[in-house]
Amino acid sequence: MDIALVTGASSGIGLCVVEKLIGMNYKVYGFARDFAKTAFTHVKFFPMICDVTDTNMLVNQTQALLKETGRLDVLVNNAGVGFFGPHETIHPEKIERMVKTNLLSPMVLIQVTLRHLKKSEGFIINMASTAALEPGRFGGAYGATKAGLHQFGQSLFAEVRKSGVRVVTLYPDMTMTPFYDETDFAPHNDHTCHITPECVADAVAQAINQREGTVITQIVLKPQRIGVERKRN
Ligand SMILES: NC(=O)c1ccc[n+]([C@@H]2O[C@H](COP(=O)([O-])OP(=O)(O)OC[C@H]3O[C@@H](n4cnc5c(N)ncnc54)[C@H](OP(=O)(O)O)[C@@H]3O)[C@@H](O)[C@H]2O)c1
Repeated sequence: MDIALVTGASSGIGLCVVEKLIGMNYKVYGFARDFAKTAFTHVKFFPMICDVTDTNMLVNQTQALLKETGRLDVLVNNAGVGFFGPHETIHPEKIERMVKTNLLSPMVLIQVTLRHLKKSEGFIINMASTAALEPGRFGGAYGATKAGLHQFGQSLFAEVRKSGVRVVTLYPDMTMTPFYDETDFAPHNDHTCHITPECVADAVAQAINQREGTVITQIVLKPQRIGVERKRN
């Protein structure tokens, strides 16, 4: 059975991607720090506790998984955090956390798994953001991590395309998930003003279902209308 690994599998987009991949008959391993927040269980879903900012833990958990499965077909680098506001107000620990979670951990995870992904001619799916492509006021550091992931994905595809590995970068705009639980803004509730995590999971499936020989390297998802809600303190 084909094997997938999804980081940030306990919530939001990652959890929807897990469900989508299970529906596509993958056995899915998920990394996150806390699976208590999701009630989702399935015989083909294997949650593993892993803080992706802890490089030793990330490498060890990934090697344990590869030892158990002997293969990897799809890697979804989805774990991510965002802290927003005037740059001088964002604590250095939060800047470090964004860089480690959103950019460093995908690069490490790909390094550890690439041999297996070359063998399976598999997929690397990186969850960037429209913030990688457009300047965002009050989100410079977050946007920089996603722009780095974008750049890394394009260069990596140039490096590994001859090996049959597909590298796909997704750029969702504001998506209705718990990502906005701690922010002072959120996507507008109107259904035309946000993306749903299910739509992002559908885009992942579309990239994987593409015929062999054609690679969808980039997918941008935007809501029909722009709408942001400011939360009251
Ligand atoms: N929502 C949006 O508007 C939007 C738009 C564009 C891109 N994105 C990107 O989409 C991805 C998923 O975000 P989401 O919207 O689904 O947000 P979410 O619901 O908050 O999910 C974030 C996931 O990342 C995991 N995570 C965070 N820090 C982690 C760590 N140190 N180690 C392991 N897992 C960690 C969380 O799990 P634990 O807390 O259990 O560890 C959770 O499963 C992120 O990369 C985000 O930047 C989101």
